Amino acid sequence: MPAIVVLGAQWGDEGKGKATDLLATTDSIDFVVRTSGGHNAGHTIVVNGEKYATHLLPSGILTPGATSVIANGVVVSPEALFRELDGLLARGVEVADLKVSANAHVIASYHATIDKVTERFLGKNQIGTTGRGIGPAYADKINRVGVRIADLFDEKILREKIDAALDVRNHLLTKVYNRRAIEVDAVVEELLSYAERLRPMVCDTSLLLNQALDAGQTVLFEGAQATMLDVDHGTYPFVTSSNPVAGGVCVGAGVGPTRIDRVIGVIKAYTTRVGSGPFPTELFDEDGVQLRTLGGEIGVSTGRTRRCGWYDAVVARYASRVNGLTEFFLTKLDILGAWDRIPVCVAYEIDGKRVDEMPMTQTEFHHATPVYEFFDGWKSDISGCRSFEDLPKNAQAYVQALEEMSGAKIWGVGVGPGREQTLVVHE
Ligand code: GDP
Ligand code: IMO
Ligand code: MG
Repeated sequence: MPAIVVLGAQWGDEGKGKATDLLATTDSIDFVVRTSGGHNAGHTIVVNGEKYATHLLPSGILTPGATSVIANGVVVSPEALFRELDGLLARGVEVADLKVSANAHVIASYHATIDKVTERFLGKNQIGTTGRGIGPAYADKINRVGVRIADLFDEKILREKIDAALDVRNHLLTKVYNRRAIEVDAVVEELLSYAERLRPMVCDTSLLLNQALDAGQTVLFEGAQATMLDVDHGTYPFVTSSNPVAGGVCVGAGVGPTRIDRVIGVIKAYTTRVGSGPFPTELFDEDGVQLRTLGGEIGVSTGRTRRCGWYDAVVARYASRVNGLTEFFLTKLDILGAWDRIPVCVAYEIDGKRVDEMPMTQTEFHHATPVYEFFDGWKSDISGCRSFEDLPKNAQAYVQALEEMSGAKIWGVGVGPGREQTLVVHE
């Protein structure tokens, strides 16, 4: 299987890091590639009880046989990149080879400043961003005043570009936000300080990946963020500023859609969301608190608590459709062992009418209330199960019911954070 996409099917934090790590270590993967987002991601991997978190780096960085690639669609903070890399090296981790696209856009410290002041300015309408400068960096890219990695190797060009980028930004900062202007020299100096260390990593990653695919090597595209956070297909404006859906992988890596063989949607056995925006199955009662507590639902990047709710099959079907999923990887089934009966949202009720598919407008989605079906719980600890048949009958029935209503087969099930805590349902 030469090209595999792993992506988030809900609002993020589904367990993409675990799924990627699992495939990278068991399926002889040659490349693990990030194609969108930046260090707003937080992916957790647990190896032999040791916990690692990756943000900008692909999770393949922990698999020395595989090459990690940060492709053109990613927004790269060199400061965050080296902080993360040094953090792993300081822990004595043997890190994989790393390649960075010359065309990837750069996040400088002013992007984070603008992200934070914009959020403050929005007040009660704020998105609840991670404050990492993701939106402003993508805005510069689309406005054609962005700085790319290749620009760091030509001081003259870099200065011209930063000058152009800060021209309008500084008017905004000083006149609208009442902040100090950002100095061009300081930004140029900051970015140049990373150039030498970056240089050996930088290449044409589209060429590299296409050549690898031509040679029959296996490439794993590790999604960040998720379908419902996609700027086109998510709950706009409460989204991130990139395209985490499967189509975004092709743009973000410079590979054609005909090269992709598998598209795996990672999905939790319940739902979580960080930041603002609609979330039909969100729970405000004891069940919500219990899901958060048992599931350890605290953000890896920002430490914010995650909003929790039941599984939403409408969201699952939508993710299956817009990504062309070939399969799901269902995570955190073990967390549901405490309930007598488990509600699953099978449709919405909107203004008195039953709706089975994602509604067309955001206003309708804001008004959607869940129509629940209830499943018998299994009331036991399943974290030690190692095959689907080991699961209690009610847990098997829950997985099978989700598969029937979600639009794609369930390839694997997670029963704990460890690599080994995975059950393969369909090969
Ligand atoms: P990502 O952003 O999609 O990679 O997900 P995060 O790492 O932000 O959040 C997922 C959390 O769930 C992490 O703490 C994982 O270690 C954990 N996790 C992943 N799969 C499972 C599972 O099957 N069971 C349990 N209990 N935890 C899991
Ligand atoms: P992983 O890869 C969950 C959310 C933020 C905010 C919105 C916009 O770990 O699943 P941004 O900083 O991107 O402009 O914030 O998107 N968000 C995430 N939520 N998991 C993530 O990544 C996220 N990355 C961004 O909370 O609501
Ligand atoms: Mg995460």
